[in-house]
Amino acid sequence: MNIADKIAELKRRKNAVILAHYYTRPEVQEVADFTGDSLALSQQAAATKADIIVFAGVYFMAETAKILSPRKKVLIPDPEAGCSLAASCPTVEFAAFRAKHPEATVVSYVNTTAEIKALTDICCTSTNALDVIKSIPENQPIIFAPDRNLGAYLQKQTGRENMILWNGACHVHEEFSLEGIMALKKQYPDAPILAHPECKEPVLMVADFVGSTSAILKEAGRNPAKTFIVVTEPGILHEMKKDYPDKTFIPAPPLDSTCACNDCAYMKLVTLDKILKTLETESPEVTVPESIRAAAEKSIRNMLSLNC
Ligand code: 13P
Ligand code: SF4
Repeated sequence: MNIADKIAELKRRKNAVILAHYYTRPEVQEVADFTGDSLALSQQAAATKADIIVFAGVYFMAETAKILSPRKKVLIPDPEAGCSLAASCPTVEFAAFRAKHPEATVVSYVNTTAEIKALTDICCTSTNALDVIKSIPENQPIIFAPDRNLGAYLQKQTGRENMILWNGACHVHEEFSLEGIMALKKQYPDAPILAHPECKEPVLMVADFVGSTSAILKEAGRNPAKTFIVVTEPGILHEMKKDYPDKTFIPAPPLDSTCACNDCAYMKLVTLDKILKTLETESPEVTVPESIRAAAEKSIRNMLSLNC
């Protein structure tokens, strides 16, 4: 039996489900029951009937699954799979920041720890961030955390001046080379540039389309172009090539051409060997203290109930 078959067999026997993010390794996406972006994965985690959720992704995603499904066993193949964006928003500093603006509604991107979600009024993902901001009355001040690039993009899109931004970022999305992207555009003038809103403003300004991973996927299908320049973590190319085999997707280059800095090293920590071991041993398990979980759940449910 090969490793994928062993995983499938254990999954069946233990009534487990594997949820994988688009940034994980292709072979990991292939053994998953469901592959998606942050929003779709949290919706799946809330709805699944499985007894065990194996989260093939980073820690905050597995934590979100546990917050939404506290009675289920949530396993993460590698607990070291962190997130530079979540790490850029430490709890003590954020609590102090929030205390300085007690009148503000706190909107946090799901790329945060459970503690930050517990200090949040409503979560968002890159798919629904614009709708979440629009759901808040025009004159209401908003704290937006932790991604400064997504925050600035939302501010620009909505024209809202009363947004107070936390100064965090994702190292993967900040490492794209504008020069390199423009050189590609010269080479492929008809190729639309599709960018994730966690990228820096100059990159977003030259993009033909800005959206979450699932929005980028949809745009690649909707747009009649045959070639695309993709400015997000290149793991998404696996699904893009599968969905649109007659189209060509070119990953945007990093600032430093000698490194694979646009690969999310955390997502790539998840391997088939680790998934198999996790299923065999039913560990490592993700836990969240109940007092934090209950408060964090409210902010995630507030997002999910908007249905956007
Ligand atoms: P989405 O899944 O919302 O596109 O976010 C990308 C990301 O950075 C996940 O870590
Ligand atoms: Fe975090 Fe960036 Fe990796 Fe997404 S791509 S998990 S935001 S470090």
